[in-house]
Amino acid sequence: MLKRSDAPVSDDISAQPLFPLAATDLVFADRGRTLIDNLSLTLDGRGITAVMGSNGAGKSLLLRLLHGLLTPTSGAIRWGGNPLSDEVRARQAMVFQRPTMLRRSAADNLRFVLNHLPRNERDRRVEELIAEAKLDHAAATPARLLSGGEQQRLAIARARATEPEVLFLDEPTASLDPASVHAIEEVVRTIHADGIKVIIVTHDIGQAKRLADDVVFINRGRVAEQAAAAAFFERPATDAAQAYLEGRLQF
Ligand SMILES: Nc1ncnc2c1ncn2[C@@H]1O[C@H](COP(=O)(O)OP(=O)(O)OP(=O)(O)O)[C@@H](O)[C@H]1O
Ligand SMILES: [Mg+2]
Repeated sequence: MLKRSDAPVSDDISAQPLFPLAATDLVFADRGRTLIDNLSLTLDGRGITAVMGSNGAGKSLLLRLLHGLLTPTSGAIRWGGNPLSDEVRARQAMVFQRPTMLRRSAADNLRFVLNHLPRNERDRRVEELIAEAKLDHAAATPARLLSGGEQQRLAIARARATEPEVLFLDEPTASLDPASVHAIEEVVRTIHADGIKVIIVTHDIGQAKRLADDVVFINRGRVAEQAAAAAFFERPATDAAQAYLEGRLQF
C-alpha cells in the first residue's frame, strides 16, 4: 500500500487548492502612469476580505488583475502556487461595479449559466436563486429593465449559480436603498457560510464592519495596510487610512 507521502501528486489543477492567493511585486502601468505600484498581497481562503481605499486607488484594477481579466505589466499572481489559467479562473466569479445583463428575462439570465444541468434541476435551482435574490416579482422581467439594486442582486445570483470557490464583488451595494443593501449582505453571508471566499470592494464603512473579517487598504496602487477588520477600524496604522475613515480627502 502507498504511504500517504508516496501517493502520486495530482497535476490536475482543478483538484488543487486555490489558496493561498499570492500577488508579488505586481505592477500595472498604462500610458506612463503606474496604477498598481509594486503591490504584494497574500490572502488565505477563509473569511470575507474587504478591499477599501479612495476613488482611483486601484481597487477595481486589482480585482481585475487577480481574476485574470488584465495582464500585469510585471510581477506574479499565484493561486495555490499555480499561475492564472482558464481552469483557475473557472473556479472564481466576479460581479462588476456596473454589471451587464443578457437581453433576456431575469430568470433566463440565470438559466443561461445553468445550461449544463438537466431541465428539472435547472428550473429548481433558478427558482431557489430568484427567491434568495428576492426577485420573485421580477423573474419574467427583461433583466435590463430591472432597477439598479435588482440588477445587482441578479448579478450576484448569476455569479453564485456558477458555484465559484472565490467571489469578487466590486461595490455591490453602491447607490442601493437600505433594504437592497440588507438583502445583498444576507446573500453574502450565505455565500460565506457555504465556504466560499468573498473579496468585496466597499466604501461603506458600516458594511465592512458588518461583513469583513479582514481589510486590505489600498492607497495609490499599493497595499498600505492589511489587518483584522476590528483592528483596522479601531486603530488604522497609516495616515492615508485615518484620512479615508474620517472622510478627509488626501492628494
Ligand atoms: N483598464 C485600465 N487601463 C488603464 N487605466 C485604467 C484601467 N482601469 C482603471 N484605470 C485607471 O486606474 C486608476 C485606478 O482605477 P480603479 O478603477 O482601479 O480605481 P478604484 O480604486 O476602483 O476607484 P473607485 O473607488 O472610484 O471605484 C484610475 O485612475 C483609472 O483611470
Ligand atoms: Mg472601482
